[in-house]
Amino acid sequence: MIVTTAKLFRCAYGKYAIGAYNINNLEQTVGLFQGSLQSKAPFILQISKGARKYSDKRFMEGMIRAAEQVFPEAVFAVHLDHGDEETCYDCIKSGFYSSVMIDASHHEFAENIAITKRVVDAAHAKGVSVEAELGQLGGVEEDIVGSVKLTDPEQAVEFVKKSGCDSLAVAIGTSHGAFKFKAEPGKKLGLHFDVVEKIKAKLPGFPMVLHGSSSVPKAEVSRINAAGGKLKDASGVPEEDLAQAGKMGVCKVNIDTDGRLVWTRVHREFFRDFPEKFDLRDVGKPFMDAYAQMIAGKNQMLGSAGHLDEVRAALGKK
Ligand code: G3H
Ligand code: 13P
Ligand code: ZN
Repeated sequence: MIVTTAKLFRCAYGKYAIGAYNINNLEQTVGLFQGSLQSKAPFILQISKGARKYSDKRFMEGMIRAAEQVFPEAVFAVHLDHGDEETCYDCIKSGFYSSVMIDASHHEFAENIAITKRVVDAAHAKGVSVEAELGQLGGVEEDIVGSVKLTDPEQAVEFVKKSGCDSLAVAIGTSHGAFKFKAEPGKKLGLHFDVVEKIKAKLPGFPMVLHGSSSVPKAEVSRINAAGGKLKDASGVPEEDLAQAGKMGVCKVNIDTDGRLVWTRVHREFFRDFPEKFDLRDVGKPFMDAYAQMIAGKNQMLGSAGHLDEVRAALGKK
């Protein structure tokens, strides 16, 4: 059952966060559905502009429609990740996406509000939810290279009121990719959960979103490097920090990089251990299983695991 993120957030707010996973191909899609059902969790399947281009956006839709039939118990949102205005309109028009992110955070404040408001008006007319972003994450966002600018809680209130968005991605020190924190002498690493707390106090009940939330597990990176990889100084967000976020009004936690690491580890180890093999299904199957296992683990950590039946009962009625 495809539902909007706004509906999922109403079920989750203040209790747990919902994992939002970036999907590009069949093996990830199957692993995502399997892992979510194994852990009995609602989830958000998100598609970036890059994923829509990788094969063709019609393959993404066809694959997910098929997954909906193969896994009829699943409850999930289909979300555009880091959309520009034009891509948002295309997704809203499609009737397939239940949620879009308009990422105009690189524009100045008033322009970000104006762009977001236009997308909100178009989306709400079709029953689609809108995530917006205020502040700048570090690292690379699609084709935008940004430097960190934490979200200002005062501005967040004005932004939400004027734009009408349904959820807000906040910048609290996370960044995209596998190299999130550069150790600098004398500088304490860590996230600014004080910003989340301030926004929660000013906008009670309003869902926040965390981008750049992969944990980049050391064990995964070591296995990749032991199998020929060269990922030096990779680091991510500690899972203990994310586990807390769901209780603080963060309803959506975005994870892409950790899935890419699982893919890299499975494939590097497979071809190291079985150099004589060349059937793509021989490595595709263990990847799907490993990806499902990662998803189930993330859902446990975020607290969404075990809530599927209750969410289906709540949303199925409406
Ligand atoms: O935030 C970016 C996501 O990790 C998607 O990455 O644009 O390479 O598909 P992508
Ligand atoms: P990671 O790179 O930390 O997985 O973040 C993904 C993300 O924010 C997608 O929008
Ligand atoms: Zn992101």
